[in-house]
Amino acid sequence: MPEPLSRRAFIGTAGAAAAAAALPGPAGAIEAPAIRRPVQNHFAAVSSGNGLRAVNRAFELVEAGTDTLDAAVEGVKIQELDPADNSVGYGGLPNEEGVVQLDASCMHGPTKRAGAVAALEGIKTPSEVARLVLKYTNHILLVGEGARRFALSYGFETENLLTPESRELWLRWRANRGTADDWLDVPESEKMTARPTGTINLNVVNAKGEISSVTTTSGLAWKIPGRAGDSPIVGAGQYTDNEVGAAGSTGRGESNIMVCGGFLTVEHMRRGMKPTDACLETLKRVVAATPPRLLDARRRPTFGLQFYAVNKRGELGAASLYPARYAAHDGREGALRDAAFLYESR
Ligand code: GLY
Repeated sequence: MPEPLSRRAFIGTAGAAAAAAALPGPAGAIEAPAIRRPVQNHFAAVSSGNGLRAVNRAFELVEAGTDTLDAAVEGVKIQELDPADNSVGYGGLPNEEGVVQLDASCMHGPTKRAGAVAALEGIKTPSEVARLVLKYTNHILLVGEGARRFALSYGFETENLLTPESRELWLRWRANRGTADDWLDVPESEKMTARPTGTINLNVVNAKGEISSVTTTSGLAWKIPGRAGDSPIVGAGQYTDNEVGAAGSTGRGESNIMVCGGFLTVEHMRRGMKPTDACLETLKRVVAATPPRLLDARRRPTFGLQFYAVNKRGELGAASLYPARYAAHDGREGALRDAAFLYESR
């Protein structure tokens, strides 16, 4: 990524451009001097398709002077606290025993710190608990009962995270998952066959080039108790390097963990790739690392996975295995956009 030009380099470039401009061009025309201006950082936020409110909230907060990590956590908390988003926080779909277990991680670029929690039960906002791990401990990842007790020590209260809707969805799944058990199937018309992998990732950079990222999820619906996906894994679910940018993911976590996708996407940007190209490159690595049992007859993944990235200058982008939307705020407005993709259809 080009660095901002020093005054000496700027004068040198402008001087060379002026000298070149005095010479006639190929057709004899005088070409306009190619003056390079110093690169300016600017605000940008990029998130998954459920993150439009999150990028808008992050923008408001950063404009008011809030730190990028605090703004990112406040952004994703909107989804964590929303009972209608059953991929994150309160109302998230539970594990196979009907227990909601939440994962989250975050990074703060300026202070080079990270925090995460996995399989956290009873706390609606795991992103806040991950930030507490980042701020107040010498560790990065707390799991299960230890993570819950850590949260309680900061004043969180254990709550029931199942909503009537998420309980209903789980009960239907349990009734229909097999024919050889003692649960009587619910009618065919009511069968729930989908196995959602929602999540929210949000990456924020401010005009000073300070970068943070956060990812939070209830993980794969009906998972084996104790399963942690990519979201709480620093370097997979999200990653920030304050010199380069940040990236994160939603979708099938195991496939992301196999390539350390958050980290890999930032490394692609470090080598000069634009955010969207970096995300696409990481997805190609995912496909290359996918075992045959997860590929269809045309060798396409049978799962979904998306990456979102922002660089230090405020350029942003996203890519998906299959067509998807993502949320972006470029400092002027927040909007949903079409992500780049590898395959048109499954
Ligand atoms: N990406 C969310 C999960 O796999 O848990």
